[in-house]
Formats: sequence, structure tokens, C-alpha cells
Amino acid sequence: MKARRHGLVNAVAGVAAATTIGVFLAGCGGSSLSSGGSGSGGDAATAATIGFLVPKSGVYAPLGTDMENGFRLYLKQKGEKLGGKTITLKVVDEGAGPDTGVPAGQALARDADVKAVAGVVNSAVALGLRDAFQEAKKPLIVANAGADAISGERSSDYMWRTSFSNGECGASLGKYVASQLKGASAYLMAPDYAAGKEAVTGFEQAFKAAGGTVAGTQLTPFGTTTNFQPYLAAARNSGAKAIFAFYAGSEAVTFVKQYNELGMSTDLPLYGSGFLTEGGVLAAQGKSAVGIMTSLNYSNQLDTATNKTFVEDYTKAYGSAPTVYSVTAYDAAAVLDKALTQGVGGDQIVAGLKAIGTIDSPRGQWKFSEKHGAAQAYYLRKVVEKDGQLVNSVIGDLAKL
Ligand code: BEZ
Repeated sequence: MKARRHGLVNAVAGVAAATTIGVFLAGCGGSSLSSGGSGSGGDAATAATIGFLVPKSGVYAPLGTDMENGFRLYLKQKGEKLGGKTITLKVVDEGAGPDTGVPAGQALARDADVKAVAGVVNSAVALGLRDAFQEAKKPLIVANAGADAISGERSSDYMWRTSFSNGECGASLGKYVASQLKGASAYLMAPDYAAGKEAVTGFEQAFKAAGGTVAGTQLTPFGTTTNFQPYLAAARNSGAKAIFAFYAGSEAVTFVKQYNELGMSTDLPLYGSGFLTEGGVLAAQGKSAVGIMTSLNYSNQLDTATNKTFVEDYTKAYGSAPTVYSVTAYDAAAVLDKALTQGVGGDQIVAGLKAIGTIDSPRGQWKFSEKHGAAQAYYLRKVVEKDGQLVNSVIGDLAKL
């Protein structure tokens, strides 16, 4: 089944129906939503089943669609093979958070047909799955969730990440914002769960180290906040001269629109981790997002030959430009392609992952760090209108982390 990227508004409108499916699937122990082949694990020498765990419901459902599209594009380009083995992709719903995502992922860890699993949007889900994959000795390729501990104190031989760390993403912007504020303070905002807290902490440490001061921090209830106005009013009353925020998916749309409705962009510029204005989120925010500056390990505006080809191929396949979520999942398929040449046993795949050197990606070159995170560049991006469309224009390199 070829997944098409939905506009964010459509995806959000479909949440009620998708939630029903997600709950049913979780109750069945994480059944397959779709498969790209015979449906069995197949002959280990010539075929393998790979699990793919992404949200089909909740505020992060559109991110899951982009990730599935990115992974499937790579498969298509390689004749549906990774490491020379024909791949059956077993797509399972992560749901809205750990209550659904952890049991669904544990079922994939136990499933003897599934040789490795990729995906996982939510940090709390990834952290909740770490031990199940370690015990099953099965590789989990985290293609989004940015929890710092995944490539830190909770690292495992069976957990590898192709995306970013939330703390690093926030930290990469700290020095730049401090240089813009010249001693004035910033107000920090994020959803109240692992990813938001880490992004804010990473930013705060780097910002303060560069001379910045913080006027206040607001953590908003995750996945349920629809009215950000009281929190934004607190930011305005704090005396801060800028806001740093981490929001993604439909929360990012609501947050930015309300920021704009309150007319805050003139006196309180908004900076954030790049998810704030990424992909379908940016299209749904429309002109409210113009001028917002973010940091991320990718923009589809990157001016490199590898990225231009990728953007062209992806746009042809799905009718819209790729996002960071598409790229990190595309790269998850790329690293599995290399690793599966070693065999389909958990330890064979891990040996293959350990042997991977530099990965030539649409985001630029990167490699796995010692604790299996992504060592890579972060870019400074600004939302501008280009040829009648809003894009995250790359205006500089921030740091290689
Ligand atoms: C996370 O939970 O780590 C996350 C979710 C969405 C975007 C970025 C990070």
C-alpha cells in the first residue's frame, strides 16, 4: 500500500476515526495495518519482515505518514529490497502516546517473523520500548523520537537513532538567540513531556552559556491544550523579548496561529526547534508563520545535489515536498539496507550497523555517534514566502553536534 501524505487539516479531522482503529489494534496486541509483500517472515536468505511503528492517530499522526512515505520511497528505489532481501513492511499504529505505542512496540519485539523495527515518533514510547528490544536482541531504529537518553544513559546495542536528540536540537539555537537578544531575556514554552522538557533544557543551557537570561518557562499539558492564549499572555507579561518553543504536529499549528492572533510577532519574535514549522504544519499555519526562525537537521530547501534529487523523487511519488520526518525514515531504510547485508539475525544486523561509516543523506553527511545517535549538522531556518509557497529557507549553519 502506498501511503500518501495528507494535509494536516485533513489528518486532524480524521483523528476520531483513526483513534478508533488505533485502540482496536492496540487491544489486539498491535496488529499489522498494512503490508507490502507476502505477509510472512519469509526465507531468511532472500526475504525479511521489518516492523514499522508510527502514529496513525493523535497530534503526531501526520508525522507518521511522512515517515512511512520516506521509508517506502527508499524501498521503492531499491526494488523493495534491503540488503538484497525482499522486504515485507509490517506497519503498526503507535497511537497517541506510550499507552498505545509501548504495547504495540513490545508485540513487534516479541514477533519472531519481524527481524528489526523502525519508526517511533514519541520519546516516551521509545524510552518505554528500550528494554523489550534489548531483551529480544532485536534492533530498533528510532527514526524520530529525540529523547536525549536514547543516545545517552539509556543507550543499548539494539537501539539506533537516525533522527536527532531533543536537547541538541534546542541547544543548537541557544548561542544564536543570545547574540540576537544582547542581554534581554527569553521565555521558554513546550508540551509537558520528555521531548518538550529536553528541548527547553538544551536551549536554556546553551543560551545561558552564551550570556542569555530566562524570564520564565511554561510547560503546557501535552496533546490536550487547544487554548495557548493564557500561556502566551504570561510570556508577554514576563518582560521577555523573545520566545523559544518546542511544539510539533497539530499543537504547533494551534500554537503559532494563536501567537499570531495575539499580534505578538512584532514585539516578541518566535524561535524554536524546527518541528514548529515543518511540513504540513507550515502549510496549515499559513502566513502566521512568516518570520519564525528555527533550528533543525534538515530543510527541504537545502541546496545540495543529493537533496534536490530526493525532493524531486519524493514530490513525484507523493505530491508534496518531503519533511525532516521523511528524511530520517528514508535514512532508517538506508542504514538497514547496509546492515541487512550481514544477515537477518539481531546480532548480525547490529554488527552491520556498527560497521556503517558516513551516510550520504539529503540532510548532508552524518554518522552514528558512539552511543548510536546521529552526529550531524543543524541549520538555521527562517519561514519565508517563495514562489507563492511558505518554506523554511536555510539562512546559516548553526553547529555540528
Ligand atoms: C519526540 O517525542 O521526541 C518528538 C515528537 C515530535 C517531534 C519531535 C520530537
